[in-house]
Amino acid sequence: MNKIFWEKTKIKEKINFTDKIIGFWIITENIGKNSKAGQFIHIKIDESNSLILRRPFSIADVKNNEIFFIFRIVGKGTSLLSRLNKTDEIDILGPLGKPIEIPEEKDILILGGGLGIAPLYLLSKTLLENKKNLFALFGAKNSKELILKENLEKLNFKELIFYTEDGSYGKKGKVTDGISPITKEKKFKVIYSAGPKEMLKKIKLIFNKKIKIYGFLEERMGCGVGLCSSCAVPKNDKTYLHLCENGPCLLLNEILL
Ligand SMILES: Cc1cc2nc3c(=O)[nH]c(=O)nc-3n(C[C@H](O)[C@H](O)[C@H](O)COP(=O)(O)OP(=O)(O)OC[C@H]3O[C@@H](n4cnc5c(N)ncnc54)[C@H](O)[C@@H]3O)c2cc1C
Ligand code: FES
Repeated sequence: MNKIFWEKTKIKEKINFTDKIIGFWIITENIGKNSKAGQFIHIKIDESNSLILRRPFSIADVKNNEIFFIFRIVGKGTSLLSRLNKTDEIDILGPLGKPIEIPEEKDILILGGGLGIAPLYLLSKTLLENKKNLFALFGAKNSKELILKENLEKLNFKELIFYTEDGSYGKKGKVTDGISPITKEKKFKVIYSAGPKEMLKKIKLIFNKKIKIYGFLEERMGCGVGLCSSCAVPKNDKTYLHLCENGPCLLLNEILL
């Protein structure tokens, strides 16, 4: 079992990708050093306790004891979080969840949409360190929402194609539009994906059942450590698993989306 730490961390840098998408580099004591691709942090946002539940966010990058995460403002918690600034403290539990498995296969297709690019950035770096050949399609609504594009361009992908819905960066369209062309050139046995649920559903439908399709899922979370069942995800065999313990990156072939 992975070690979990509870820490008061400090914000080192705040990055405003747009007025609704923000990234924080935070300094931790132990969480960063113990974090791996696929894991997440659980943040207590409001010290006055008006928000009882912690909020989960994917680990997008790690440098020694520093962690980077990116979030979209969608409600009260993320709105309060967005008001924090450099040197402010954040109460974090982590790293939580299961690190990704490194597949045996050499060639891997990566498909990321919107904020789904965040966990796939650290995942890509990790797979590249493990000498995998990565072919990637990343997309967002527009150029500004296409987070981490400059960082991704610096990685050693065999193929990297960007999509924006308005055509402001890369090809015009959605990531799912790029699947047919890339899979005509090359057959993949393993896929890693992250993005809106509709996108993951579409990916699952497009590919043959024999291809291993991993996907990052999001569910409402309570405890984050397997105790409350609020994050239960139904499997094909009518059993459930806890996303916080067994995921958030799961083999989509085995679950009901
Ligand atoms: C493992 C995991 C990793 C995540 N990583 C990221 C990330 O890297 N970046 C990011 O922006 N978001 C991420 N999320 C989603 C993020 O946790 C929610 O957006 C956040 O908790 C919303 O808090 P809030 O108080 O602002 O919204 P609330 O006021 O609680 O809710 C606002 C809206 O967001 C929806 N929502 C709330 N929580 C979740 C959730 N856990 N999953 C799906 N929808 C939710 C609600 O149904 C509602 O429509 C992740 C979720 C999980 C489970
Ligand atoms: S959030 Fe409590 S079991 Fe997963």
